[in-house]
Amino acid sequence: MMKYRRCGDSGLLLPEISLGFWHNFGHVDDFQESRAMMHRAFDRGITHFDLANNYGPPPGSAEENVGKILAEDFSNHRDELIITTKAGHTMWNGPYGEWGSRKHLLASLDQSLKRLSLPYVDIFYSHRPDPHTRLEETMSALATAVQSGKALYVGLSKYPLNMLKQAVEILRQMGVHCVIYQPPYSILNRWPEAEGILDYLNQEKIGCVVFSPLAQGMLSPKYVDSIPADSRAARAEGFLQEDQVLAQQEKIRALDHLAKSQGMPLHHMAIQFSLKHRAVTSAIIGARNVAQLDDTLAALDAPALSEETLKNIDAIAPARRSADAEG
Ligand SMILES: NC(=O)c1ccc[n+]([C@@H]2O[C@H](COP(=O)([O-])OP(=O)(O)OC[C@H]3O[C@@H](n4cnc5c(N)ncnc54)[C@H](OP(=O)(O)O)[C@@H]3O)[C@@H](O)[C@H]2O)c1
Repeated sequence: MMKYRRCGDSGLLLPEISLGFWHNFGHVDDFQESRAMMHRAFDRGITHFDLANNYGPPPGSAEENVGKILAEDFSNHRDELIITTKAGHTMWNGPYGEWGSRKHLLASLDQSLKRLSLPYVDIFYSHRPDPHTRLEETMSALATAVQSGKALYVGLSKYPLNMLKQAVEILRQMGVHCVIYQPPYSILNRWPEAEGILDYLNQEKIGCVVFSPLAQGMLSPKYVDSIPADSRAARAEGFLQEDQVLAQQEKIRALDHLAKSQGMPLHHMAIQFSLKHRAVTSAIIGARNVAQLDDTLAALDAPALSEETLKNIDAIAPARRSADAEG
């Protein structure tokens, strides 16, 4: 049974596992498999689906496909779903197609709503910090998104701690609560833990949805011996590079051995790890097909990790301030 955790001290509850559409939902992918995954996820209690303007490929196509599935299959279930999108990474040519200006964020949100055929999204994120735009401007765009009814809540993704603290305060002064923060977080990428971001979120009662808890699949047994031909690392359009996998392979083998000694597969240990910090509301996973989705969801039935296992994980993959692996 899926459990739901409160997102900080907001009224929003999110499932422990959420499904993301960064890969496997673009026009390059099998539409019927994407549709089947969305159905299966919803049937298993996943109510939170994570998008961004640029997911595909091509960019925007994940929103188009999800918009089609929502309209055709989920029109009676809109109020049971949390649909998110983001703006900030490169989306269109010219000076307004990326980063944190009001122009980019609000134009991008309108484009996303059109692709999704929705009047509003549940959560709208600033996808990345912009070093060249005043935080007041970016936050004012998020506030406008809420005030105009085009987003119910707003969030921030990948902001470093100092910018996150300032952005939360600016939003507060604008009368808008930063409900959620979205960082990468896994056994191989413990940057938000080492930087004190998770403790800060917990203290401020801001929700936290972590992405790539399987480090894009590196925390599954598939890469222990080789790079399989059908894996993300072997896909031309995948974001995981072979050399990233090779650089982590020794740790992957040690972690796989540890997981086996605890009677669970590596990806189940990875999911349990990603959900253990008090600050974490949900982990956003990716899946290539329904079987993989089910396999990852089975991690929720695994026993919580013991103190000894956590110590052994620390010994193999300690929390470091800079990311070991981008996810
Ligand atoms: N805010 C941001 O900047 C940001 C950045 C990245 C991601 N995200 C969000 O986070 C979501 C998840 O990211 P992610 O896809 O990297 O998450 P992930 O769960 O770490 O990796 C998913 C990949 O791992 C492999 N996998 C999954 N289940 C498996 C299983 N049971 N056995 C073996 N392999 C398995 C699959 O890759 P194969 O193709 O190799 O089978 C799958 O596509 C994204 O869709 C997006 O919504 C946000």
